[in-house]
Amino acid sequence: ESATGDFPLSGDAVNVAARLQQAADSWGILCGERTVASVRGGFEFGPVTPVEARGKAQPIRALALLSRAAPPVARRTPLIGRNTDLEQLELVARRALHEQRPFLVSLIAPAGVGKTRLVEELLERLPGIEPRAIVAIAQCLPYGQRLTYWPLRGVLYRLIGVPDDAMPQTVRYAIRVWLEGSGLEAMDREVELLAATVGAGETEVSDRSALLVAWRTFFEIAARRAPLVLVFEDLHWSSDSLLDLFEFVMQPRGDLPLLMFALTRPELLDRRPAWGGGRRNYVSISLEPLSDRDTAQLVDQLLEGCSAELVNRIVRRAEGNPFFAGELIRSVAERGGTDQLPDTVQATVLARLDQLATEERRIIQLGSVFGRAFRPPGLLALEPTLQRVDEVIDRLVDKDLLRSTGADIFAFRHILIREVAYQTLTRAERGRLHAAAAAWLEGLAGEREDSLAELIAYHYREAAAMATAQRPGEAETDRVRQKAVDWLSRAAEVAAAAAATHEGGRHLRSAIEFAEPRRLPDLYERLGDLAGLGDVSVDAYRAALRLCREQGRPPEQELRILAGLLTILMRFQGSVANRPTEEEVVNLRRQARAVAEHVTDEHVLAAYLASEGFFPFWLRAGDRGATSEERAEADSSAKRALSIAQRLDDPNLQSMALDALAGTGQIADDWRRGLAYSEQRLAFHDRLTMVEKVDAYGMVVWSATLLGDLARAEQVSGEGLAQIQPGQVPAAALHVVAWRAYVLTLLGRWDEALAMADRAYQLYRDLGSSSTAYALHGFMAAIDIARARQDQQLFDRYAEIHDEVVSAYTTSTDYRHWEAYAGRDPAPVAQAVARFQLGQMSRLDRLERALNRLLDQDVLLPLATVSVIRDYAQAHEFRLVEAQTERALGRLQKSVDSLQRARTLFERAGAAPYSARVRCEQALLTGDHAEMEAGLQVLQRLGDAEQLGRFERLQVG
Ligand SMILES: Nc1ncnc2c1ncn2[C@@H]1O[C@H](COP(=O)(O)OP(=O)(O)OP(=O)(O)O)[C@@H](O)[C@H]1O
Ligand SMILES: [Mg+2]
Repeated sequence: ESATGDFPLSGDAVNVAARLQQAADSWGILCGERTVASVRGGFEFGPVTPVEARGKAQPIRALALLSRAAPPVARRTPLIGRNTDLEQLELVARRALHEQRPFLVSLIAPAGVGKTRLVEELLERLPGIEPRAIVAIAQCLPYGQRLTYWPLRGVLYRLIGVPDDAMPQTVRYAIRVWLEGSGLEAMDREVELLAATVGAGETEVSDRSALLVAWRTFFEIAARRAPLVLVFEDLHWSSDSLLDLFEFVMQPRGDLPLLMFALTRPELLDRRPAWGGGRRNYVSISLEPLSDRDTAQLVDQLLEGCSAELVNRIVRRAEGNPFFAGELIRSVAERGGTDQLPDTVQATVLARLDQLATEERRIIQLGSVFGRAFRPPGLLALEPTLQRVDEVIDRLVDKDLLRSTGADIFAFRHILIREVAYQTLTRAERGRLHAAAAAWLEGLAGEREDSLAELIAYHYREAAAMATAQRPGEAETDRVRQKAVDWLSRAAEVAAAAAATHEGGRHLRSAIEFAEPRRLPDLYERLGDLAGLGDVSVDAYRAALRLCREQGRPPEQELRILAGLLTILMRFQGSVANRPTEEEVVNLRRQARAVAEHVTDEHVLAAYLASEGFFPFWLRAGDRGATSEERAEADSSAKRALSIAQRLDDPNLQSMALDALAGTGQIADDWRRGLAYSEQRLAFHDRLTMVEKVDAYGMVVWSATLLGDLARAEQVSGEGLAQIQPGQVPAAALHVVAWRAYVLTLLGRWDEALAMADRAYQLYRDLGSSSTAYALHGFMAAIDIARARQDQQLFDRYAEIHDEVVSAYTTSTDYRHWEAYAGRDPAPVAQAVARFQLGQMSRLDRLERALNRLLDQDVLLPLATVSVIRDYAQAHEFRLVEAQTERALGRLQKSVDSLQRARTLFERAGAAPYSARVRCEQALLTGDHAEMEAGLQVLQRLGDAEQLGRFERLQVG
């Protein structure tokens, strides 16, 4: 202690501190390096400035303290809120995995609300629930509608244990090994079907249902081996075919520990309004935004120590969307200033991207071209001049924009970041980059070309579209367009090979957009083939035909296209909205005949001859019926086609020829012959395409019903329906379903009939109200049951649909005669019967319904009308119509004998509700109370309140 009272401190530390103090600006602070190091991260400093100090050889390295550093943003907070959601998921998981009850859980919410996070959380807890559980994730991509079955690849590869870039033969081998010991009989087929879906197949799969079943079997086998959790991520981007597949596999058979999650934004419900509906063990959770309190907690945890005022503003802006909240916080943290918050999620992400260093932003942009995830070599392929890619990617991972998701693979932390990044690229740049991405993938593809075809096609298509808009006519543009056509055609075949005709057609239409003229005929022809029905096919074939002629293509191709066109116009006339004139059809037939002179290919000739067999059938729906010469000509064409097809052993061609023959049989009023031909088709139904198969079932059911063989009709319709999967060939399915509803009504199995009518109703709605008069009798039958049971609600439902179907036809067609069927007044129905034209495939089912309706309501027709119909029906063995007319005659003439004939016919057919009516009607004549009682008992069992009431009235009267 000195005399002056000072405390003389000295030494290096004091010395340095004094120097720093002197050298600092006023109110400023300078720190030495050690200080800086020890407060690392908490503060921000200026650049190093040398400060000379006494007694020091080297200047002190000092840094000016600038400010507190922004507090670090937490990577990820614990799950906030969502406790009850999570509990529900855990409960479902336990039930599914322990009680072996397959469960489907849909999580539906807009982007960023936390679907993925919630499931991740559950998956983390899964080992606690079921340690043996295996998880497989099918991830849909942002451009997934163009990648038909892409997401299944990940699931398949994960379960069978092969790497991402496995060769097709490796994949097939691994599937086979995996399937071994599963007890599956048709092993080869299963291998092919699964492989075809991921573009690793060797054969084409045309049967969509087989494909769906194969995948369901695959998941069932997996779940039997170990409890299985399947996650379908971002389903809103799924292709239609994939959605069908998902819907199908989500209904597994048997007791299995299988838990499925479907995560989707609400957009999916626009495409599939009935998503999940009617399924057993189904839970749908629409995830709500976080509450303000939870959002505040989230903000607070992400950014520790930020002011209450800022927390409030973020909470208000984010509206309970945790992704939005997180991005707002990161944006605030990165920019420092907190004065203004961006308005939208997109703007927030954009603001963050703006803050990035140039080389960081570039990597983000390039990565976005690939989609959700990318590999560094891919980036270099897009931009070979990139420097220090790995280092920049590390920084982006640090900033939590990217995540490492596997060896050498990086993904955007959230897909919205990718979306915004992609939008910052100019169109010209996107075009160039997509072309480069495609070329890079092409180089990688090697033997995996099929499995990458849709992806490569997608990139070339984007490139071609943008190049065409920006630099039309340039050589590079033409090159890219050609590439796009090559790969889109290839992608179409890959999709078609897995029975995804919808997606296949879409690829082809894109190819047509970019193709040079010489390739167009083939592309259009293929499009016509793939669509297979309807105006799309007609237009495609017409275009193909025109181009073939312009380009002088060989006669084989021309005839093939003509045969395809005629088949759709005539055989599938119901699918064609614009009916051609007779002159046009005759013209096309003449052209085909002329070309056929020069064709030797037997397949093509048989297809052409078979199509010819449908001319009388086509005429039927027009102004005139076929003459007997025209029928004979059609018959002989179809027979020639049949014999060639038999020789070539082509089942579908045989089926088509037999169908033509069945048609001419019906038109000649020889339904027995027609039925025999249709039955022949069923003999090899397992070799037929779905359309051919379901059509064959429909034809047999139709003929058998009219001929009064309800037992056969019931059996065949049941067998046919068992083979149709949801979404498959809806128009053909409706045919079978409507007949079955009618048959079950006649048989008195009314509850089943109503269930069938409901299925018809759904199919009709799914078809989007196209011309479906061929299903009218199914709806009429449901109306009759509703009437009998006096169920107004049911009546209204089917009356509405009946009227809708009928009114879709012009007043000149005979469908319109039934307009009043759903009305209260029977008089117009009586008029419709009076005007009914017998012969040439007339719709006797409707006539039968109308006769029954009139008799049920005591409306008696003129004797002459009834007699004519009776004689006709009797001569041609239409047993049900015959029975109704005998019943009418019995009523008109008070003839117990006629009624007895009616009753016998109904009883032979097993048409209980109608034999019961006749029984009561007989009893009214004879006064036999026991008979009356017996008849009434049947009506009682059916719940036929209308007829019970009627007989009560008549008995008293
Ligand atoms: N309850 C929560 N607590 C904390 N963080 C959450 C919560 N929910 C979501 N997050 C975070 O918010 C972000 C967005 O969530 P997530 O990715 O799960 O959204 P999403 O609903 O799957 O969106 P998308 O439809 O785009 O896939 C993620 O970073 C996630 O970690
Ligand atoms: Mg998600």
